[in-house]
Amino acid sequence: MSLPTKYPARSHAQRVAEQLGAEFSDAVYLLTSPTLELYPYCDQTQPFRQDRYFNYLTGAHDLSGAAVTYDVKNDKLALWLPELDEEDVMWSGLPLSLEQAKHKYDVDDVKYINEKDAKVDFAGRRLIGIEEIKHSSKYFTALGSGYTVEKKLQDALDLARSVKDEYEIALMRRAAEITDNSHLAVMSALPIEQNEGHIHAEFVYHAMRQGSKFQAYDPICCSGTDCGTLHYVKNDQELGNEKQLVLIDAGAEWQCYAADVTRVFPINGEWTAEARNIYTAVLDMQTQTMNKIKPGQSWDELHLLSHRILVEKFLEFGIFQNGTVDEILAARTSVAFLPHGLGHMLGMDTHDVAGFPNYDDSDPMFRYLRLRRDLKAGNVVTVEPGIYFNNFLLEPYLKDEKHLKFINKEVLDKYMPVGGVRIEDDVLVTKDGFENLTKITSDPDEVASIVKKGIEKGRSHFHVVV
Ligand code: GLY
Ligand code: MN
Ligand code: MN
Repeated sequence: MSLPTKYPARSHAQRVAEQLGAEFSDAVYLLTSPTLELYPYCDQTQPFRQDRYFNYLTGAHDLSGAAVTYDVKNDKLALWLPELDEEDVMWSGLPLSLEQAKHKYDVDDVKYINEKDAKVDFAGRRLIGIEEIKHSSKYFTALGSGYTVEKKLQDALDLARSVKDEYEIALMRRAAEITDNSHLAVMSALPIEQNEGHIHAEFVYHAMRQGSKFQAYDPICCSGTDCGTLHYVKNDQELGNEKQLVLIDAGAEWQCYAADVTRVFPINGEWTAEARNIYTAVLDMQTQTMNKIKPGQSWDELHLLSHRILVEKFLEFGIFQNGTVDEILAARTSVAFLPHGLGHMLGMDTHDVAGFPNYDDSDPMFRYLRLRRDLKAGNVVTVEPGIYFNNFLLEPYLKDEKHLKFINKEVLDKYMPVGGVRIEDDVLVTKDGFENLTKITSDPDEVASIVKKGIEKGRSHFHVVV
C-alpha cells in the first residue's frame, strides 16, 4: 500500500468529527499554533514547539502564529497563515506563500488570517476550540458568533490521535530509525565518552546529522548509582572506572513524532555478575510482556506481570526471601524497585494522550502507570520495565517491617552499585499482535561486544551514513 504524499490532515479532521458525533455536526473547529515568544527582558525568541493538536489537523509542524479551521457540515479544512510582516522578512526570510502552502498541505483552502475572510466564512457559525482565546483566535472570535472551549473536542482529538494511521506510523518509524542509529553511535564510542555530557552530545550530534533538529525530550544520560534516578537531569558526571553501568534514555523527534528508547551498557564492556542478573531480569520482563501485546490486551495485566517476574527473579537472586511470589506481590514490596509504569502511549508527545492514567490510585503499583486501557490496533506504546536500586526510594521500605521481612539486606547491598536498569522499546499494536519499531539490539552479549569493540579500537566504530 502506498502512502499518501501529504500528511493526512483532512482524514484526521474527519476522524475527529466522527468521534464527536451528531451533537457537533454544525460546528467549526478552531485550533491555533503558538506565536514565537521572546524571553523576558531580551529580544531573543524562545524555542518553538508546535501545538500537537494543530499539527494533527495540518501536518504543518513548523508554522507559528497560524490557525486551522474545520467546518464539519461542509467538510472544509482551511489553513490560516499570519499576514506578511515585512520587518520579520528582513530578519527571518520569506514565509510560505499561500500557493506553496496549498501545494504542501492536505487542506481545502489557505488564507491569511484577517477579519474580513473569517467573517465571510464563519459569521453566525458555532466555533469550538480546546483553549481560551489567544493570539490568532481573536480574528475569528471577533465575529460575534461565539466561541466555546469544548472538552469533548479535546477528548475526540485525543482518541483519534491514539490510533495511528499508516502515514503517522511511517513518521514514527523514521524517528525510531534515527534513534536506533544514535543509540548505536553512543554504545560504540565509549573511549571518547568520559562524562555523561559526552554521551548526551554524541546522541544529539547523530540525531541532528540525520535531520532530527529536536529531541522528543531531554536525553537522560546517567552512570553508576544515578541510573536509579528515573528522569535524571544532570547529565554531567564523570563515568569513572568504579561505576558499573551507563543508562541512556533518549529519542529523536521526526516532524513532531517521537521515539523513546532506553539502553544500558557496562562501562568497561564487561557485565558484573549482579549487573548481568538485573539486566537479564529486566529483559525477561520486557520480552514476556511484549509477546502478549495484541488488540484487547489489558495493560494493567501486563504491568502486573512485569512485577511478578521481578519478584520471581529477586527470590532467585536472594534479594527477596521469607515469602511466596503472591505474598510479596500483595505486599507491593516490588514497587520499591519498579516505581514507574510498564509503558505509556507514544505519538506526537512522548507521554502521549489518551492513556487515562490515575495518579490518585490508592494502589501504589498502578499510581504511575500512564496507560490504563486495553490496547487497540494502531496504538503505539513503550514497553519499558526497569529495576532500580535507589537509596532514597528504598529507605521507607527498609524501615517498614511489612516489607523488610521480605528483603535480604546483605544481598541487597551487593546489588546497590548496579544503580538501575531500564530497557525501553517502542511498539506498534497491529491487528493480530505487535511490531517492535525499535531495532537496536538489547541482547546483553551483543551490547557488551559493541562496547568492547569501541574500547579496543580506542575510538567510535560506528558512523551514521546519511
Ligand atoms: N523518557 C521518558 C520515559 O521513558 O517515559
Ligand atoms: Mn518512556
Ligand atoms: Mn524513555
